[in-house]
Amino acid sequence: MQPDSLKQESLRLGVLGLGHVGLPTALGFAEIGWNVVGTDSDARKVEMIAAGRTPFFEPGMEELLKKHLGSARFRAVTDVAETVRRSDILFICVGTPHHEDGSADLSQVEGAALTIAENLDSFKLIVEKSTAPVHTAQWIERTMLRYGKDPTQFEVACNPEFLREGTAINDFLCPDRIVLGARSPKAATWLHNLYEPLGRPILVTDINTAEVIKHASNSFLALKISFINMLSDFCEQAGLDVRDVAAGLGMDPRIGPSFLKAGIGYGGFCLPKDLKAFLHVAEEFGSDFSLLKEVERINHARTQRFIRKLQQALWVLKGKKVAIWGLAFKPDTDDIREAPSLNIVRELLRSEVSLRLYDPQAMNNFRQLFPANQSQLVYCDSAEEAAKGVHAISVLTEWREFSNTDWQQLRREVAVPVVVDGRNFLDRSEVEAAGFEYYGVGLPMRRHEEVHT
Ligand code: UDX
Repeated sequence: MQPDSLKQESLRLGVLGLGHVGLPTALGFAEIGWNVVGTDSDARKVEMIAAGRTPFFEPGMEELLKKHLGSARFRAVTDVAETVRRSDILFICVGTPHHEDGSADLSQVEGAALTIAENLDSFKLIVEKSTAPVHTAQWIERTMLRYGKDPTQFEVACNPEFLREGTAINDFLCPDRIVLGARSPKAATWLHNLYEPLGRPILVTDINTAEVIKHASNSFLALKISFINMLSDFCEQAGLDVRDVAAGLGMDPRIGPSFLKAGIGYGGFCLPKDLKAFLHVAEEFGSDFSLLKEVERINHARTQRFIRKLQQALWVLKGKKVAIWGLAFKPDTDDIREAPSLNIVRELLRSEVSLRLYDPQAMNNFRQLFPANQSQLVYCDSAEEAAKGVHAISVLTEWREFSNTDWQQLRREVAVPVVVDGRNFLDRSEVEAAGFEYYGVGLPMRRHEEVHT
């Protein structure tokens, strides 16, 4: 059965998986007028969403959820089979974590394909949106055929997401580009029609190319970050400010200003995982991706480099008390997956440093991995409280609120006025004016103007 038209009142969308990709996608489609049913294997998560609460922090998402539960354009249900039966287009948005060897764990994708096969009662366009290695869509198709499904009753396409945590809603509604990997004109037309209301650039290509575009995009973003981090180490030794060098680089439109912020490296559930998966695929194809191995190595080394910077600032780490400002892998999220804070906290605890942790959103997630213990690990309710009696304040995540710190006041709270800013986020002159020693990443050990006086 074909939907009698591709009109918004008749075409039914189903989203399988309501995580960091599926929920913003479902609400984004509802926002531009489509009717969407979302489901997830975690019934608790579905019930929470159906009650108007989001299972993770993402600015603006709870408001959008309440709006479209109210408009009835979005429903969250626990019945996955029913969602499949009641949808014309199904977006697979399940997790694709990585195995120990770096390869992508596609068990959830296969599970979604099997559920679709078991409930295929009319033509379905099955869209792979989860980030997955090239040829995943082919495996989804093969799975459907092995399940004896009539190839005229389904088609598989690929529509990779480029959502960033913290700006996912905006990234859906105002994407730089939409990539559609489709085999038939019908699939291309259906998907093109879905995104039409956004009025944004749409690239239609084949399925494998669409899969590779996603992996290549994230790998290139990681490469840019490791490049500027490599350069920041050089700048530190040469007495230069890496931010000035980055500004000069970024003025070349072929390079662009974004993703040139030096710091303690990239984290999150995407860049590290996608780089590993792309490397693994390349090895399977016998291609030399050693450049990306270097990108990974440089990123891994950022933690040790930060610990060494803190140790150089404090001379002796053992027995010291350090405030950790920021635990999430980036601001505006509560996500700590692959966050640099994980290894930094682990290393400092191993060095017998007492830590006072604060993050506006990520503390509950962090507590799961690092339970408080009064002797060495304390969770604080504010950045200021975390700074009480410490020998250094270390900034790991550039939360906006840290820029409103009253450094004169804080000077009286700390035991030793030292700030080690892993994201070059704070205003160095303001911090130093209050009597703190300031250490950044890729900055000259002394202020720029001192060098010229
Ligand atoms: C990324 C991609 O940007 C997005 O397109 C894709 O869909 C998913 O993966 P995300 O992981 O949410 O998004 O965050 P992103 O903003 O890319 O930051 C990733 C990491 O890089 C963070 O840890 C951030 O702190 C770090 N980063 C980013 C830098 O260290 N320097 C920079 O200049 C930019």
